[in-house]
Amino acid sequence: MNLTKKDVVRRVLEGKRSNPRKEGSAFAPSNIALCKYWGKRNDELNLPVTPSLSLSLGTLGSRVAISLRDKADLVTLNGKRLSPDSSFARRVSDFLDLFRPDRKTFFKVVAVNTIPTAAGFASSASGFAAMTMALNNLFGWRLNSRDLSILSRLGSGSACRSVHNGFVEWRAGKRADGMDSFAVPLKPKWSGLRMGLVVISDKAKSIGSREAMKRTIKTSAIYRSWPAKVAKDMRLLKTAIRRRDFPRLGQTAESNALAMHATMFDSKPPVIYWLPESILAMRKIWRLRQTGLHVYFTMDAGPNLKVLFLKKDTAAVKKAFPKIQVVSPFS
Ligand code: PMV
Repeated sequence: MNLTKKDVVRRVLEGKRSNPRKEGSAFAPSNIALCKYWGKRNDELNLPVTPSLSLSLGTLGSRVAISLRDKADLVTLNGKRLSPDSSFARRVSDFLDLFRPDRKTFFKVVAVNTIPTAAGFASSASGFAAMTMALNNLFGWRLNSRDLSILSRLGSGSACRSVHNGFVEWRAGKRADGMDSFAVPLKPKWSGLRMGLVVISDKAKSIGSREAMKRTIKTSAIYRSWPAKVAKDMRLLKTAIRRRDFPRLGQTAESNALAMHATMFDSKPPVIYWLPESILAMRKIWRLRQTGLHVYFTMDAGPNLKVLFLKKDTAAVKKAFPKIQVVSPFS
């Protein structure tokens, strides 16, 4: 039997009583994967083929306040009311459908992204996690972080990792209902770690990650080697985090991102998110490494780079990328 999102919500909320308050609000950080989630074993429930490991971006993320209303959903993003037909408002309403007590109940959603929208970085992960946590507060369900992670995943896969701060592991799980597929925080903190956001383009991408993942799984022969690559990189990253071995962390994250993009290049037709300027930025990073600077990059389903480095090298990295936006994930 194929389970629907609604079945999972029913399972998670079984026995929980709803006592709606006036408003529920929450903040969730954005997250960037160092070992990527690429490919689903279940498209409906956003269940991944492999585990993944991410770094949450501290105070950069989404704050969401939700209240009940009796006429049509109303969504505002950064102070602007969204047209109910916009793709984002529709995604939000589809997600809210999972939690509507009855067909006459609607929601007002006020979302503010502390991550600049113009920076071209997806805020769907932090948005869906914050929305899930805000609903939990609104209805007074008192869900634990495992359940919050499972529900956030139904909005967007990577959102399940935004329930936590710091380093986060998303356990792939094996069960058909996905009740064992959720994110857990990893203990180590690394205060000297920095992530810089290098914007190449903030234009909407031509193909979304959902479609791109599907096409990769269906048509890329080298995708078959992806689960083994992930297993190895997960081990390397965890060791690097435990030992504060920055070159190992950076090398592994960079290699993992390039391998993910290689599976996209091998898709038919190919999926190529890179722009010429993305490659110029990569070359700049490789040149900096040749001068002895430990700086690495990772990339998601888009042309922008996320640069990894240590606090002591901030000035050198800023000199090379004057417009870089630097994040301290642990402070
Ligand atoms: O959660 P989604 O459906 O937006 O997919 C995210 C996919 C990547 O950002 C490319 C990788 C990841 O692990 O975040």
